[in-house]
Amino acid sequence: MRTVKVNLDKKSSSSYEIRIGKDILDRITLLIAKDHKAGRYVVITDNGVGMLYGKKFIHALKDIGLNASIIEFPAGEASKNINTVLEIAGKLMESGADRETCLIALGGGVVGDIAGFVASIFMRSVPYIQIPTTLVAQVDSSIGGKTGVDFSFGKNLLGTFYQPGAVFVNLSFLETLPEKEFNNGLAEIIKYGIIDDEKMFSNLEANIDALRTKDPKFLLSVVENCCQIKKSVVEIDEKDHGLRRILNFGHTLGHALEAMSKFSITHGEGVAMGMVAAARISEKKGYLKSNETKRIETLIGKAGLPVKIPKSLDTEKIIAKLKMDKKRKGGIINFVLLKKIGMPFIDGKIDHNLIAAVIEEMKQ
Ligand SMILES: NC(=O)c1ccc[n+]([C@@H]2O[C@H](COP(=O)([O-])OP(=O)(O)OC[C@H]3O[C@@H](n4cnc5c(N)ncnc54)[C@H](O)[C@@H]3O)[C@@H](O)[C@H]2O)c1
Repeated sequence: MRTVKVNLDKKSSSSYEIRIGKDILDRITLLIAKDHKAGRYVVITDNGVGMLYGKKFIHALKDIGLNASIIEFPAGEASKNINTVLEIAGKLMESGADRETCLIALGGGVVGDIAGFVASIFMRSVPYIQIPTTLVAQVDSSIGGKTGVDFSFGKNLLGTFYQPGAVFVNLSFLETLPEKEFNNGLAEIIKYGIIDDEKMFSNLEANIDALRTKDPKFLLSVVENCCQIKKSVVEIDEKDHGLRRILNFGHTLGHALEAMSKFSITHGEGVAMGMVAAARISEKKGYLKSNETKRIETLIGKAGLPVKIPKSLDTEKIIAKLKMDKKRKGGIINFVLLKKIGMPFIDGKIDHNLIAAVIEEMKQ
């Protein structure tokens, strides 16, 4: 089992460890019992993950003498709202949970964000542990303490920064993950290579097939690498005031495309298109060399992710959506651009005509 330590400013948050390995469920339960003592453990999960792993995990906790129960909610982004938070809090009260209770988020990013949010507000906060089961959650959402739910005004608008006590990444969960969900994670992995680590990017270029077929050794090294990158960014900018924004590479346009397609474009697909667009914009502004744009597009394509924007999406409407988001965010949309692979920077003033031109180009 590999360990990555997240070192945070002791005045505001405690540091914690990310443990990564394959077939480590039994060791996870033992580590929980040893290092995260609590009077009661409540596993929060969605019905999809609950059906696959809920019973087994609860049994494993009970087998070593822990007081454990489970709360499930319907899988999917539609559950990520304040009503689910209230339902979970109600069930916690009914089951006698108190401040000695530890929550365990077992699931993808939706479960992690909701369970973390509940943990941050239930009885003025109880500890929680992240056990991510999607690739997105294993390389991204379970690390860094951003919790929250969506609101009628937009995504992730109600939330807190609240760090978990530990993150346990069991790669075996990925064996049951549908390909579309796995590809969402691939987009985030490629993003890390582009924004932080040219060596990792080259490694992905050479071994993308091994990653797509979940070669255990390569998958372990890549996931560990991503956790290292995410934790380094979070250590410097825990509360998202500056550097952490580079993690949004490809996301500004990606989110707009997802929303415009009424979510028939997945998050990973939107980010993939957004990353290609950001690379092309960087090149057109004279920052990025054309061979690097080409490398980015080729890798994204080889990962099974889209590099073209569907013709059915109206460019004007996409730009209008970006402008609306910009208004909501105080007049600035932080577009993350590239000087080269591994060297991102933030540009708050991208001409909409340039974005429109790149979108049109990407429809060809
Ligand atoms: N907090 C953060 O820093 C952060 C970062 C990135 C994304 N997010 C959030 O994460 C969410 C997306 O997370 P996600 O992509 O993990 O989606 P998700 O949590 O919706 O999971 C996707 C689907 O996969 C199923 N699933 C999960 N694990 C499985 C497994 N091992 N086998 C089979 N099926 C499994 C789930 O039941 C669900 O239907 C978004 O709400 C996003 O806002 C948060």
